[in-house]
Amino acid sequence: MCGIVGYVGKQQCADILVNALKKLEYRGYDSAGIAVHSEGKIKTVKAKGKIAEGLEAKLTNEGKPVGTCGIAHTRWATHGEPSDINSHPIGNGKITIVHNGIIENYREIKEFLISKGYVFESETDTETVAKLLDYYYEGNPKDAIISALNDIEGAYALGIIFKDFPEKIFAVRKESPLIVGKGNGENFIASDMTAILEHTKEYYLLEYGEIAELDGENIVFCDMHKTEITKELSVADWDLDAAEKGGYEHFMLKEIHEQPEVIKTTINPRIKDGMPDLSECGITPEKLKKYNKIFVVACGTAMHAGLVGKYVIEKIARVPVDVDIASEFRYRDPIVSEGDLVIIISQSGETADSLAAMRLAKKLGAETLAIVNVKGSSIAREADMLIYTHAGPEIAVASTKAYMVQIAVMYLLAFEIAFAMGKIDEAECRRLTSLLRETPDVIEKILEDTEDAQYIASQLITADSLLYIGRGLDYALSMEGSLKLKEISYIHSESYAAGELKHGTISLITDNMPVIAVATQTDLFDKTISNIKEVKTRGAKVIMVCREGYNPDKDIADFKFGLPDDVENLIMPMAAVVPLQLIAYYTSVLRGNDVDKPRNLAKSVTVE
Ligand code: AGP
Repeated sequence: MCGIVGYVGKQQCADILVNALKKLEYRGYDSAGIAVHSEGKIKTVKAKGKIAEGLEAKLTNEGKPVGTCGIAHTRWATHGEPSDINSHPIGNGKITIVHNGIIENYREIKEFLISKGYVFESETDTETVAKLLDYYYEGNPKDAIISALNDIEGAYALGIIFKDFPEKIFAVRKESPLIVGKGNGENFIASDMTAILEHTKEYYLLEYGEIAELDGENIVFCDMHKTEITKELSVADWDLDAAEKGGYEHFMLKEIHEQPEVIKTTINPRIKDGMPDLSECGITPEKLKKYNKIFVVACGTAMHAGLVGKYVIEKIARVPVDVDIASEFRYRDPIVSEGDLVIIISQSGETADSLAAMRLAKKLGAETLAIVNVKGSSIAREADMLIYTHAGPEIAVASTKAYMVQIAVMYLLAFEIAFAMGKIDEAECRRLTSLLRETPDVIEKILEDTEDAQYIASQLITADSLLYIGRGLDYALSMEGSLKLKEISYIHSESYAAGELKHGTISLITDNMPVIAVATQTDLFDKTISNIKEVKTRGAKVIMVCREGYNPDKDIADFKFGLPDDVENLIMPMAAVVPLQLIAYYTSVLRGNDVDKPRNLAKSVTVE
């Protein structure tokens, strides 16, 4: 996902912009650039590749533009391959912009502008916006912005500078996130607070239909009729070192170790007198008991959190739950109606497919509940009901702590639904809630010794492909374990229902092929052992994730990762996912990969 920053104030801004871009690298990008009001001109320097090798090298060779007002961008290519010419900022020197999002009608606009004599240099949709602003500009930036936005369809966050206004930055957004940072004698725009936390914790959330105009002293907001708007100032509740590695080698390892803490910060405020209490989120037992059917719609790891939620809600609340991949839900003409609840799970709150799925669910008459980590994000703001997870900034592309708190919230929700529907009594609801509250200590203990996970990782690094298998909740977990491994180690893996192997996939088993068997569910354990024997006898190298008290013979498993025996089946996913995260992490490290920023991936996929 692209990153946007802007600075206007008293300081030279080139280094400020570049350092701010570096704080956004985790969003994934393939080129970067800056544009500065410099000596009466807009000077743009941009380059394909990583900031250090591309942009910074160019700035060293060409010299940094002198100036105190500028915008900057990291690009994750959507239209047009990664290249110098396609990188941002983009403009003709009179008007220069940075853009995050997708202009859906850029072809029509481009044809119109070409018919007016414009010549395009890049393959980007963004260039149409820059030239459209130029087409409408007659000396008043806001008039040009309003006219251009009236023609544009799609998602955008725009930072805009005009040569005629050397001390000002203008900003607008629709769907793609953008904030306006308030400093002391300096002001900022940014895609998220991580970029500018070292300068300020105060910020405004820019909303759709608002234009921000900022210089070093003032920030003025207006609507699309140029009527001034007063906005509420927010204060970031985490500081820079929360977004730094805190002594760990990678953000991912830090975030794995933060899990006990963020479970507490997420669920403890939602437990009152030993019972789940989501009333602060506008969710009451009366509301929850009226739903005929529940859908959980999400992408990737968030969808896997939904799978755990499905098993738990259906098991104790006896309400049918469908889990959908958001990009499938949107186009399968889902049978959703009034009286249904659609839960959207999203760490970033900006995933395009999940946002679109939520809008479809609302159009179909369902009530929507969002479980989101990033405050003020699009999904958070548009849902009917909202539960924020409090995982803090999750910087590693591979989600761990956000997943953990997503399932923790799903547990709380399941307990409250089951109690509201009379499927469990108060005593049982208290007991389950208490078990959930104990999970941080369980995870803390597992994290005390990661040696076994490191050893298991050493057994995987030369594999071409491997299987994760499990039954019930273990199967849901094996899906998350497989995705974690794939996305950061680049080793192919597949999650498979253990009982389904014999219907085809078992033909893949060859000598020494690793199979990670998740076998924590005591009621399914014997069945899973039978499935493990099927692969073991065919030469697989079996690694079990199971309870500590079970010691497999060598004809069953070559190695095991032991989990506490006394964790109840229902709650075990909170503990069992930790070894799966650690195994993926150490495998990636041993393979020398960029653990926090794996190839081809972005932290938040704001395009379809
Ligand atoms: C997680 O490890 C992945 N990076 C990815 O699958 C992610 O979970 C997915 O893109 C959904 O993102 P969201 O939670 O921000 O909506």
